[in-house]
Amino acid sequence: TQKTVTTIAELSSQIAQWHAAKQHVALVPTMGNLHAGHLQLVQEGLKVADHVVVSIFVNPTQFAPNEDYQSYPRTLEADCAALEKAGAELVFAPTVEEMYGQDLTTITTVEVPILSHLLCGKFRPIHFAGVTTVVNRLFNITQANIALFGQKDYQQLTIIKRMVKDLYMPIRIIGIPTVREADGLAMSSRNNYLTVAERQIAPHLFATLNQIKNRLQTGEKSFTTIEAEAVQQLQQAGFKPDYVAIRDAETLLEAQTQTKHIVILIAAWLGKARLIDNLCLSIA
Ligand code: PAJ
Repeated sequence: TQKTVTTIAELSSQIAQWHAAKQHVALVPTMGNLHAGHLQLVQEGLKVADHVVVSIFVNPTQFAPNEDYQSYPRTLEADCAALEKAGAELVFAPTVEEMYGQDLTTITTVEVPILSHLLCGKFRPIHFAGVTTVVNRLFNITQANIALFGQKDYQQLTIIKRMVKDLYMPIRIIGIPTVREADGLAMSSRNNYLTVAERQIAPHLFATLNQIKNRLQTGEKSFTTIEAEAVQQLQQAGFKPDYVAIRDAETLLEAQTQTKHIVILIAAWLGKARLIDNLCLSIA
């Protein structure tokens, strides 16, 4: 059976009992409106820990004033039902005040420099500091042994790994492959913003990633040309791309001709939805 708690005190007392029994706890941080991608993180969590805790918190500090914080879908009841089925025992759904207190402007923050300001960080300058700030709190509150994150948000995963490493946080981070719709579109709560017509166009994003991967695998090294052509192609399909980037999979800096582990990342607007996706490859 599953329990939903809204206070840090309730959460801590439950988790303390598990730790006292020397049981391992996995945390899956989410903003709710759960889909099969989120549930996959829970599944994988159950394989590596005795208990899975899911947090559901639409985190205000990672949204800029012009972004979709107010309209972000909030579906707590359906989320808890889905999590019960998936086997997550404990759901933590705090209010903003429980998480941050009264005054959001004076809170202590955590920021990973450089990594937080390239790629999506160029277009969302405060976003990743908000993510690391809330994830740090969730790690401290839960004292989880393991936390699971999706590779769909590749830059987010990279930044969290770096935070954990730099601050010697005693937690293991596991990245989980992107769960996709049958036509290749990466599952996302923001796919709900697409019109029926836009939803038909959306799989172009993953198709473009695969085209680029094929070109790289045949030895093409003119990365900037490939990126520019993909931007044009996405524009023709109806997207407004923020970027198409061929990067070093570890550092997220521009790939060099000798780079072995590459990640191709795309962020593009389609109507009201800002879609992101990525694909990794290794060059022999
Ligand atoms: P959210 O967008 O709800 O995503 C929660 C977790 O689910 C993230 O680790 C994300 O990478 C993962 N996820 C989303 N779609 C996925 C998919 N199609 N396949 C696999 N995993 C997927 O990311 C956030 O929330 C927030 O920034 C958060 C980390 C909770 C901090 O507020």
